[in-house]
Amino acid sequence: MKVRRSVALGCGSYLPNLVLTNAELARKVDTSDEWIVQRTGIHERRIAARNETTGTMAAQAARAALAHARVDAQTIDLIVLATSTPDNTFPATAVSVQADLGINHGAAFDVQAVCSGFVYALATADGLLRSGAFNRALVIGSETFSRLLDWTDRTTCVLFGDGAGAVVLEAQELEENRGDRGLLTVRLRSDGRHKSKLYVDGGPSSTGTVGHLRMEGREVFKHAVAMITDVVEDAFKATGKTVADVDWFIPHQANKRIIDGSARKLGIPANKIVITVDRHGNTSAASIPLALTDAVTDRRIKRGDLLLLEAMGGGFTWAAALLRW
Ligand code: ACO
Repeated sequence: MKVRRSVALGCGSYLPNLVLTNAELARKVDTSDEWIVQRTGIHERRIAARNETTGTMAAQAARAALAHARVDAQTIDLIVLATSTPDNTFPATAVSVQADLGINHGAAFDVQAVCSGFVYALATADGLLRSGAFNRALVIGSETFSRLLDWTDRTTCVLFGDGAGAVVLEAQELEENRGDRGLLTVRLRSDGRHKSKLYVDGGPSSTGTVGHLRMEGREVFKHAVAMITDVVEDAFKATGKTVADVDWFIPHQANKRIIDGSARKLGIPANKIVITVDRHGNTSAASIPLALTDAVTDRRIKRGDLLLLEAMGGGFTWAAALLRW
């Protein structure tokens, strides 16, 4: 018996050059480096240049992932791009990436699940690859949250940054007894009762404007650890894996305190956690592939390692995946 699995061939990322430090932010709003570091673990974040968009950053990350995977863009037949900050209301930013890469076959579309978007995109691509409909996918998370922020609101503008990350996934037919490869499971959750706790106060069908990000930070914090640990436990149950099998924990990088709290509750030691929130801030759907690429590039993550990915964000949405790298 054979099983069809989505196997990761490579990853890549892109960060804008402009670094915005906490000290620089403290000159714009009433905050301090000490407050931001203590409450969030963030020291600095990147901000997209005027000529950079979610689409251009996504294309850069996609090129890096294709080069890392050593595959030609023309072999990609599916692009799933997670973002809450698309270049335009439509078409999907994924089709801009498709055109940028010179691909004019297959399918390209966006998914929107805010900070859980990358894991939702992985699940979507995985389902389409395993169904046999597609063979090789680019799964991308890309965000320009700097353009959604109210830069006079110190409770939100200190938290976020811009960037993009991408993974190349390929459908492979594996002998069932060698099936412990690639994406082992993806678990998705949402609960719309929490939608007003983290949202953007604009949109095409409500205000006709783009709007600004609004958040009840304490409320998000209150739910985050429980939701994350619940969906991670579900991923373990679905695969028979335990926390002891995990080589690297790659959480959504929203806040160091949420990451540490989740790791503590799950029993994951600090030396297995990939942290980039200190340098990137919260890049929403881009944060997981950015962190993954960081740890693959510096060779912490090795082929065959078991990776635990998780995220939680607006909606609320939350999600977890186990990926044999
Ligand atoms: N600088 C200085 N003071 C500030 C700042 C700031 N940037 N922001 C808020 N404060 C003040 C508040 O006004 C408040 O002052 P007050 O006591 O005089 O009223 C005080 O600090 C405490 O505010 P809280 O909101 O209670 O601070 P808290 O300890 O909860 O930390 C934070 C705020 C960091 C936002 C925290 O609630 C948090 O991390 N929440 C989770 C948010 C998050 O991670 N969101 C993203 C996840 S989902 C996604 O990724 C989209």
